[in-house]
Amino acid sequence: MKFNKISLFILGAFLMLFVVACGGGGDASSSGGGGSDTAPPADAPALPAGDAAKGEELYNSTCIACHGEAGTGIEGLGKNMTESEFIRGLSDEELLAFIKTGRPSNDPENTTGVDMPPKGGNPALSDADIMDIIAYIHSFQK
Ligand code: HEC
Repeated sequence: MKFNKISLFILGAFLMLFVVACGGGGDASSSGGGGSDTAPPADAPALPAGDAAKGEELYNSTCIACHGEAGTGIEGLGKNMTESEFIRGLSDEELLAFIKTGRPSNDPENTTGVDMPPKGGNPALSDADIMDIIAYIHSFQK
């Protein structure tokens, strides 16, 4: 009887291993499927690097009016971005947050007394659009 108990135990252990292995496989495939079903939220924190060519078009339609050709700035409107220490000191995520907020003329951080409007005054810009613009900004930064 003692031997039979041991072999039953071993058989049981094998069965459990089998069930655990199958169960594990099933979990992995079902969680994979679940992941692809769920669309990422519009404001997902991790954003892919922007496309500078697309960013140039967006810059030229929204930002150029104040910041000038290739970020060189326009006196009395937008700052020169090509030599900005401020931009150099920010990560892309921080720069995205800055551009979305802007810097009103009554902000103590404002340096020119002129408004930097949120999203450059173009609310239609998505986070991804702004990431494209940031990639373009990096291309003309010195
Ligand atoms: C209506 C004019 C205007 C438009 C349009 C505009 N900006 Fe600005 N922007 C400003 C002004 C003015 C400042 C400087 C604010 C200050 O005095 O600190 C500024 C500052 C900035 C700065 C900080 C620069 C620094 O060195 O402090 C960034 C970055 C910037 N703008 C990005 C953008 C981007 C990107 C766009 C287009 C999506 C844009 N701006 C559109 C007026 C504008």
